[in-house]
Amino acid sequence: MEEAVPERRDDEGWERPATGPVAEEDPSSSQAAGDVPSSTPPVDEAYEPSTPAAEVEAPEPPGEAIHASRSAPEVEASEGPSARVVVAEAAEPTAEEPERFMPRDLLAPSRHAVVVEQVESETPVKHADVIAFANQKGGVAKTTTTLNLAVAFAESGYKVLCVDLDPQGNLTMSQGIDPDKVEKSLYDVLVNDMPISEIIVEREIDIAVASIDLAGAEIAMSTKIGRERSLEKALKEVSGYYDFVCIDTPPSLGLLTINALTAANKVIVPVQCEYLSMRGLVQLQNTLKMIQENLNPDVKIEGILPTMLDTRTVHAKEAVEILEENFGDQVFKSRIRKAIKFAEAPVKGASVLKYDSGSSAANYYRELAKEVLANNEST
Ligand SMILES: Nc1ncnc2c1ncn2[C@@H]1O[C@H](COP(=O)(O)OP(=O)(O)OP(=O)(O)O)[C@@H](O)[C@H]1O
Ligand SMILES: [Mg+2]
Repeated sequence: MEEAVPERRDDEGWERPATGPVAEEDPSSSQAAGDVPSSTPPVDEAYEPSTPAAEVEAPEPPGEAIHASRSAPEVEASEGPSARVVVAEAAEPTAEEPERFMPRDLLAPSRHAVVVEQVESETPVKHADVIAFANQKGGVAKTTTTLNLAVAFAESGYKVLCVDLDPQGNLTMSQGIDPDKVEKSLYDVLVNDMPISEIIVEREIDIAVASIDLAGAEIAMSTKIGRERSLEKALKEVSGYYDFVCIDTPPSLGLLTINALTAANKVIVPVQCEYLSMRGLVQLQNTLKMIQENLNPDVKIEGILPTMLDTRTVHAKEAVEILEENFGDQVFKSRIRKAIKFAEAPVKGASVLKYDSGSSAANYYRELAKEVLANNEST
């Protein structure tokens, strides 16, 4: 059994004052202590996309779309079979059948890789809803929301991939995988064009894992043509297989976050109720506008999510009111209240939905999943 990996970051990086006027917030605190600094300057000031909108790649012809199934060579007809996935060869040879999944906890992450084999298909395949979880402010529950919402989708029967685009690797760690021991990661995908299927590890949901060297990815990608589209291109391989791709982003608006926003069609913005930063949200909106104009006209804010809500304090209630006054319908109806279980679960390498399935904390994210799914149906 693989040991749960404790969170590595010190408390200092996460703690926020319980109360305090919004106006007093220090803009420089948008990066939590210990966060990996972005190699790219703030987007709204200096970021220049390398690829003009006119150079956007033509979509792949329908017949070449990929559909992956790792559990069986043939995919159910209803889902438009077009590809199959087999378990990649293990780092060490095993006696297992190559197309059968091994008990997940017996394998090192690098041995969970799946390989997508593209095959001809005449039926159209689905395309995953790609959701980026973004806020350049640190410690607002981006990772917690990415994982727990993803697991809530999976509980409802959807196929979900999480992408850990944060060099801190907190999402990867939250599923009991040590980013220090990961051999192949999103670094290889973004910088060396490795197929993303090779770095997907199966846990509660599938995860495209981060490793510590992802911190160097922004610099390594900086000279690459189409550097903002590396993730978008990588996801094409598997987007026919998954219903949802949930991308966790670092607390910055650097090239990694730009990649997430370029690959996504929706953005969920977690906002910590006790520590609101309107200025930060405006900056995020400006970045998104730049992405819409230059890279991805389809991306839109799915919702702003009030997190870590302490309903006992007047300050928290006021914070939500301010959020609703400024962003109206964009604010989700769902509320994620404060609960100690959110801090406990990652230490056990589990989502809150697995760690304490019957808890209110787990239900907050089930409610959010319902709201997102209902929005999907109405659009
Ligand atoms: N609803 C909640 N109640 C209490 N604690 C929470 C809640 N949501 C998240 N936390 C805790 O707050 C801390 C920060 O959460 P998280 O790591 O998800 O934020 P983040 O935005 O991803 O941070 P970073 O910007 O550093 O990536 C973690 O210790 C997490 O367990
Ligand atoms: Mg995080």
